Amino acid sequence: MVSESIHQPIDIREINNDFSLVHTAALSPDAEQEVRFFSGKNVPLEMHRVTTVKRLYLRDVDERAAAIKKAGNNTFLLDNRDVFLDMLTDSGVNSMSIFQQAAMQTADDSYAGSATFYRLNNALDYVFGKRYFLPAHQGRACEHILAKCLVRPGSAVITNFHFTTTKAHIMNHGGAVIEVVPETSIDPDYLAPFKGDMDLDLLAAETERVGVENIAFVRIEAGTNLIGGQPVSLANMRAVSKFCKEKGLILVFDASLLADNLYFIKTREKAEAGKSIHEIALEIASLMDIIYFSARKLGCARGGGMITNDKALFDLMKPLVPLYEGFLTYGGMSVREMEAIAIGLLETCDFHVISQTALFVAALVEMLESKGVPCVKPPGGLGCHVDAMKFLDHVPREQYRAGSLASAVYLASGIRGMERGTVSEERNPDGSEHFASMELLRLALPRRAFTLSQLEFVADRLVWLYEHRELIGGLRFTEEPKQMRFFLGVLEPVSDWQEKLISAFKKDMPSLL
Ligand code: F0G
Repeated sequence: MVSESIHQPIDIREINNDFSLVHTAALSPDAEQEVRFFSGKNVPLEMHRVTTVKRLYLRDVDERAAAIKKAGNNTFLLDNRDVFLDMLTDSGVNSMSIFQQAAMQTADDSYAGSATFYRLNNALDYVFGKRYFLPAHQGRACEHILAKCLVRPGSAVITNFHFTTTKAHIMNHGGAVIEVVPETSIDPDYLAPFKGDMDLDLLAAETERVGVENIAFVRIEAGTNLIGGQPVSLANMRAVSKFCKEKGLILVFDASLLADNLYFIKTREKAEAGKSIHEIALEIASLMDIIYFSARKLGCARGGGMITNDKALFDLMKPLVPLYEGFLTYGGMSVREMEAIAIGLLETCDFHVISQTALFVAALVEMLESKGVPCVKPPGGLGCHVDAMKFLDHVPREQYRAGSLASAVYLASGIRGMERGTVSEERNPDGSEHFASMELLRLALPRRAFTLSQLEFVADRLVWLYEHRELIGGLRFTEEPKQMRFFLGVLEPVSDWQEKLISAFKKDMPSLL
């Protein structure tokens, strides 16, 4: 006779007592409280310890001058060996946890039906409550598939704000992009907690103007990249979702920068403060028809994908994955990276993981603003965004203020930032410049990668540069690709301003470093 089973399912807390398994916010003993200093100082305390490290090298100013010249004054074209602090992006360069690295060893390397795929599918289902998963090699691959399936010539995508690759894919398929953030969101000094929110009246007006039948989809970008990593509130997402449901519009969510956005909802949106990070993530997901993400950002590894609970949308996009990306169970990703993403997604539910970038951004913005260096405020996610429009207000706009500042910052510090201004735009069809609504130099803060003393160095060199800003001049293109010229374009200084800047630097920094 078989005896009745007395087995009780184990609570995950019991097997995780020694933290040998990844813990999410629900399991963290220090839960969701920020640690305050007795001194009252506002210090972004690192809730992690460094295990594996990478030695950095600082080239002297003459070597830096040669390197930026060779790179055509485009920080994308610098060799990383010539870079001291690589603040180009957080993409694919957030630090990994020991749990992610351990998980990579368990990858199931098979072309089809890999167990790794199901683990990642389950992690996505756990975090977001969406069952259908289409893997892709990175975020823009998802944008390609979305545009191919949903965008038609003459159709439009309404979004809070565009991202470079998103816009390029939509336009390549004959579509147009309509942005509906309020004017105040592109004012670097305007203080509001959620500058990524859509203006609901504008959304309604644009929908009316374009006609529902001509709208390919509505897109919300979390942590709005090009306006300074500004978050979107859960209240705004709810309202947009309700509007889309009423109108029968597909709502697409770009979750690439969701980690920072979750932190801001938790800490800035009073009505949501009582929810866990995971509960917030689940509610956001429930509002969206399709979520896509760059796992180079969300999940802190390298890859991407799309999730949905809508079988019809899933079936529409599915055939394009084997065609453009790879078989349905890897989509162009390495299975090792997929294992790391699965753990990285669980760790995104941990307050002390996702707080790290936002706290460091706030600290750097505070260091800079206290010395007069203009930054986007309030501090957002992703990185510190220096307002080049003001920093270099003596440089004509057609000489690329943000691009010139990126070049000057590298010269003065070995720090590599990213131009997020007019160079990142494309010319108008008649060849005239299309000036970006903001001229930003982005100093990205990959999660858990830099230390507070390195932030002090960044601030020190930026302040030096600010005090010598009159020496900085403009740039002009010598090689200008038609599309996404910021990646590969080559520029030169319009005068000998770089030589003058270097001379001033040598006077103040005799070691040349
Ligand atoms: N969406 C957003 C909001 C992004 O920030 C990015 C990438 C993408 C989509 C595309 O994802 O790079 O995996 O193809 N942003 C990077 C950056 C490149 O540095 O801001 P991807």
